[in-house]
Amino acid sequence: MAGKIKKIAGPAVIVESLDGAKMNDIVRVGKEQLVGEIIRLDGNECFVQVYEDTNGLTVGEDVISTNLPLAVELGPGMLNGVFDGIQRPLDKIREASGDFIARGVNVKSLSREQKWDFTPGVKVGDQVEGGSSLGTVPEFSFTHKILVPPTVSGKIKSIKPAGSYTIEEVVATLEDGTELKMYHNWAVRRARPVTRKLDPNLPFLTGMRILDVLCPLTAGGTAAIPGPFGSGKTVTQQSIAKYGNADIVVYVGCGERGNEMTDVLVEFPELEDPKTGKPLMQRTILLANTSNMPVAAREASLYCGVTLAEYFRDQGYAVSMMADSTSRWAEALREIASRLQEMPAEEGYPPYLSSRLSAFYERAGRVTTLAGDAGSVSVIGAVSPAGGDLSEPVTQSTLRITGAFWALDASLARARHFPAINWAGSYSLFINVLEPWYRENIAADYPEKRKELIVLLQREAALQEVVQLVGPDALADNERLSLEVGRIIREDFLQQNGYDKVDASCSMEKAYGMIDMMLELYKSGDKMLKSGGAISDFLDDAAVIEKVGRARFVPEAEFPAYKGEYMKMLETAFKAKA
Ligand SMILES: Nc1ncnc2c1ncn2[C@@H]1O[C@H](COP(=O)(O)OP(=O)(O)OP(=O)(O)O)[C@@H](O)[C@H]1O
Ligand SMILES: [Mg+2]
Repeated sequence: MAGKIKKIAGPAVIVESLDGAKMNDIVRVGKEQLVGEIIRLDGNECFVQVYEDTNGLTVGEDVISTNLPLAVELGPGMLNGVFDGIQRPLDKIREASGDFIARGVNVKSLSREQKWDFTPGVKVGDQVEGGSSLGTVPEFSFTHKILVPPTVSGKIKSIKPAGSYTIEEVVATLEDGTELKMYHNWAVRRARPVTRKLDPNLPFLTGMRILDVLCPLTAGGTAAIPGPFGSGKTVTQQSIAKYGNADIVVYVGCGERGNEMTDVLVEFPELEDPKTGKPLMQRTILLANTSNMPVAAREASLYCGVTLAEYFRDQGYAVSMMADSTSRWAEALREIASRLQEMPAEEGYPPYLSSRLSAFYERAGRVTTLAGDAGSVSVIGAVSPAGGDLSEPVTQSTLRITGAFWALDASLARARHFPAINWAGSYSLFINVLEPWYRENIAADYPEKRKELIVLLQREAALQEVVQLVGPDALADNERLSLEVGRIIREDFLQQNGYDKVDASCSMEKAYGMIDMMLELYKSGDKMLKSGGAISDFLDDAAVIEKVGRARFVPEAEFPAYKGEYMKMLETAFKAKA
């Protein structure tokens, strides 16, 4: 029996006498059939968060339960897609309702008309298990595996021959009569099952030296990017989307100002995939919540996004998921909690802020899929603490959950030092687990060289303080040398110009080569000083200093030769006047 609306408070609605109401089930609210989700049950009453604008809704209107939890559709047709927070395609909503998004629009997430070229991968009599592949469908340059839903298994009774089908056509039947299509549904608040989680001992390479070298992320790891307004959170995430070593990108945008998301909606489709030269959108899914969309959809969007990411992981791919910004998401949580008159904890956020955040980040990981392949979901969440105050609850809760912490700094951004990541305030918990990988794949002495680089940076930071008090002339020559090499590391290694074709992304091999160049610079300078030279000889050798500074703009293929020339140069450097 339909329930009745008893009370409406913004996006929260209290419903009486809804038969069979279950936690997290989706309901249709009022005459306009607005989409909502049951988030609390209390005797005869249930609390519903409505994913659409509740203006005009009146007390006494009917509410009916679909008896199904909030779910997404998983199958071909998601890539290059722009969806709202509950996976409704924005273009279809617009078609159905005009520019002002109408309410209660019932559009399917995936196109029912589009045909896909299916190639079967199983034959009659084969045993299939949950998560195994029935065949494949090309989607742009990506091979989409058609998965058996995780909860289904059996013997194939019939399978469609290679051909063009819509996702509603049955492509396989099992002996027990189960019909399988090219898509299935999955409830977003439940993690998709895996065979097992794997150790996080492979890096997720972002192409940004400061991250990959100083505070690396693992494939399947989690990272937070806290930063004040305009410090570069969005640019950093877009750069990682573009250059990070993932096959698929899921980008969840939670906008504060309307134009913030518009930026993403305009900018993303223009990004070019450096691997293929084609639009990045062909391996991207955007979930966009603009500020004028209801807060409840924003709350759901993180879970929808991570479910899509898990689905591609289950096909054996590496997926990167960006959430920009989780602070806007937490504010949605706070707003709904306060409408439900829940007892607030810190700064008005509900006490379950932390557990909700971890319910999201926990779904990251590198796994063995049900089909036995390796797949990963790496999650990178931006946090926008008001006034850049990192002690606020969302930043603090995130910090306890994530493995890497990349703190953006307003003063670096003001000084146009990009990426404006404050290396001293950032960290990664993955350094030790990644060490064997570095030794094996980059260089046997990579971890030691990395440490030497950090020592130079630390020494420079300490000397900077002295210089600010007494000026550079008070420093001894070898301190001036540390100061100078430290400056070079900061400006020519840690800085990266996101808009330069070459410098925008850097491989670990090249980063290692650059570290080597800088450490050798220090050693040569030190040797020269020890043999009686003066620091001015070092500072005056403009050719060497320019050569090391230009390294970041040298294409990867030319880099080894460039480094060779530089090392030769060092042999005779600083000697002219010595
Ligand atoms: N890596 C970079 N290279 C060059 N410029 C950058 C880089 N990162 C940021 N910027 C500059 O800083 C500006 C603001 O960056 P961005 O929009 O990413 O900040 P944000 O932290 O997302 O801000 P908001 O809090 O408003 O969302 C960019 O428009 C760009 O000019
Ligand atoms: Mg931003």
